[in-house]
Amino acid sequence: MLKVEANFQLGSLNTLKLECIAERYAHVSTTGELREAVSEAHQHSANINLLGGGSNLILNRFLPGITIHMGLRGRELVEESADDVVVRLQAGEDWHETVLWANAAGYFGLENLALIPGSVGAAPIQNIGAYGVEIAQLIECVHVVDLRCGDIQSLTVAECCLSYRNSVFKTPDGKHLIILAVDLRLSKRPFVNTSYPALREAVPNESATPSDVLEAVVALRQSKLPDPRVDANVGSFFKNPIVDNVTAAHLQREYPDMPQYPVDANTVKLSAAWMIDQLGWRGAEKCGVAVSEKHALVVINKCARYASEVIEFTNKIAYSVAEKYGVSLDREPELVGSD
Ligand code: EPU
Repeated sequence: MLKVEANFQLGSLNTLKLECIAERYAHVSTTGELREAVSEAHQHSANINLLGGGSNLILNRFLPGITIHMGLRGRELVEESADDVVVRLQAGEDWHETVLWANAAGYFGLENLALIPGSVGAAPIQNIGAYGVEIAQLIECVHVVDLRCGDIQSLTVAECCLSYRNSVFKTPDGKHLIILAVDLRLSKRPFVNTSYPALREAVPNESATPSDVLEAVVALRQSKLPDPRVDANVGSFFKNPIVDNVTAAHLQREYPDMPQYPVDANTVKLSAAWMIDQLGWRGAEKCGVAVSEKHALVVINKCARYASEVIEFTNKIAYSVAEKYGVSLDREPELVGSD
């Protein structure tokens, strides 16, 4: 029997540690419970919010409707050949524990994505990526339930429309889909990807193993990014902006030290951290919200209670970047609820 709680405090279930009251809240650990929660929402014509690890959310004070906390667990092998496997990961599994599990089982490809906070179900939504790898490269398909009709479907990787920190699940075409499980194709043959410059420096050895890379990524993240269990944060607060070649060339002339990364023939990714850092924001603090001393792209909630304080401070950062560089910064985490 599904337990639905009214006026549930989500403060401990989001890594930014913001106070938020969910009108109704249900933790689901089976697909049966999930169906019950969805039909309960339909009966009350209530909207549905999905909560995973809470590591990519900015919660406003009040979350109307029913908040479903995804707790589906399980990992299974669904296909195996001499070269690779397909593993099915339920949405409520912890991401980093899954990376460790795959490595220990001898299924390779996830090492560069170690220590990313959050759950498996959230990974395709923003197409998690780090140190030269995006989950888009590994997804075979994503199993979803369509909230409008209750049907379970599988989306191919193409249908997920994955791009830099984006997917169909963030758009009106996919907002009605709840991710149940993700199938990943992983290699049984050990290989490493050390193309990202900071990782190549950390793992210079030609005969490095996937475990060496996993360890190096964990060490890099621990040295560069604040731990969300200690300093409340949601990882990168802004996306790295993508601009056209002409804009990039103009900025490069004006700021020769500005890091730039070509995306394709026409566009270039800029470093939001670099611009924020140049403007002197690193370590700055206002009303209990601060830019991390360790990394200028990470915003830490020191003692703010509500999302509005975070938004006010970070809008100032984005405004100053737009003013100086003419580039607009988009937030990476999703702002939900009402103030
Ligand atoms: N930099 C600064 N100041 C800083 C930090 C970085 O000038 O305080 C400069 C660095 O010198 C470097 C550049 O910014 O030239 C890039 O820094 P970094 O390698 O840390 O990568 P990033 O672009 O800031 C992205 C992801 C991270 C991911 C790293 C590594 C986004 C929004 N962020 O950060 O992902 O871990 O690359 O691949 O794409 C996340 O999404 O939450 C996240 C942490």
